[in-house]
Amino acid sequence: MARKTLRIALIGAGTIGRTHATRSADVKGAKLQVVVDIDETRARAVQETAGAPERAADYKEVLARDDIDAVIICLPTWLHEEVAVAAAEHGKHILCEKPMALDVASARRMHEAARRAGVVLMIAQCRRFSQDWLKVRELIRSGAIGRPAVIRTVRALRLAEGWFVQEGKGNGPLLDGAVHDYDFARYTFGEATQVMASGMTFRADATAVDTGTAIIRFEHGDELVVSWSWGLPPGARGGYLHDVIGPKGAIFFERSTRPDFARLPAPDAGCGAVVIDRGQAGGIEQVPYPLRDMYLDQLQAFVDAVHAGGPSPVDGIEGMKAVAIGQAVLESARTGRVVTLERGLPSVC
Ligand SMILES: NC(=O)c1ccc[n+]([C@@H]2O[C@H](COP(=O)([O-])OP(=O)(O)OC[C@H]3O[C@@H](n4cnc5c(N)ncnc54)[C@H](O)[C@@H]3O)[C@@H](O)[C@H]2O)c1
Repeated sequence: MARKTLRIALIGAGTIGRTHATRSADVKGAKLQVVVDIDETRARAVQETAGAPERAADYKEVLARDDIDAVIICLPTWLHEEVAVAAAEHGKHILCEKPMALDVASARRMHEAARRAGVVLMIAQCRRFSQDWLKVRELIRSGAIGRPAVIRTVRALRLAEGWFVQEGKGNGPLLDGAVHDYDFARYTFGEATQVMASGMTFRADATAVDTGTAIIRFEHGDELVVSWSWGLPPGARGGYLHDVIGPKGAIFFERSTRPDFARLPAPDAGCGAVVIDRGQAGGIEQVPYPLRDMYLDQLQAFVDAVHAGGPSPVDGIEGMKAVAIGQAVLESARTGRVVTLERGLPSVC
């Protein structure tokens, strides 16, 4: 039975660590006890912002403590497995940032360690708590634009932290960034069956593919098309698109996506709106969704799952299958071949 107020250690006080820390005060049933980072300046800054009692540099010392119940792992991706497995072996519940790991084998070891220890392992696929994405999922699944449907995502920018575009550390945007799209598409469409991709490297200091495009086919004929780059020069940004197209229309995530949507009435206070364009037959419809904080909802879901004794809202298998798509995309980009998946995993697994 979990302690009434879970004591959480946040491991990694970088960009996403800070995001979680700033939500911790609003979570019911838990408190952020200690902020861990090898960079003392970062640890102190996040500790002070979040009002956490302690900071530390060595995650191993923190995992050995009996007064810590759970960890939030916000480390660079190549460290997720090492720390998650150690946390599970110390009986700590785990909220681990996405992507779960760099490959399926690593994700599987994390999942197995949590299962053996009987702890909750949740992967922070945050779009599952994002109200606009959830509304789009609901619309697709209710047949609002027909099926099969195609989710399209285009993004290009540069990330300051170099590890994201290093092979064996972050593996570039086709794993680290697009894993949000892979997970959302799986969650909406079912299992991925086939992947085609191409990739290239723009940045002189990158060892991973930093720019690429993938087409992922799902079990009912739906598709995801992803084009990401983290290889632009500092400060430059490319276009930005998320939409979904189907035989009966198109769904837009934001009213700002098309100039003609500016004429639509503003959503009610506390609401955003996605827009469906059904053309001459059905016209344009705004569908409201409540504005909520997905990171707070995600953290609360984790804490609630620990108090309830499970299950995990996004378990290790879910995290692993999103990684499997990324791994297949990178393999396809490297070999130029179509890669197939069986029940959402590489055929050999
Ligand atoms: N869900 C999201 O929207 C989202 C957004 C950004 C990043 N992420 C994911 O979160 C993870 C972290 O990304 P980030 O952008 O915060 O990275 P970051 O580089 O900003 O932060 C990582 C932190 O880990 C610390 N660190 C490194 N090794 C350590 C160790 N051995 N012990 C303790 N601390 C250590 C670093 O000093 C740094 O402060 C990645 O897996 C990334 O993909 C998710």
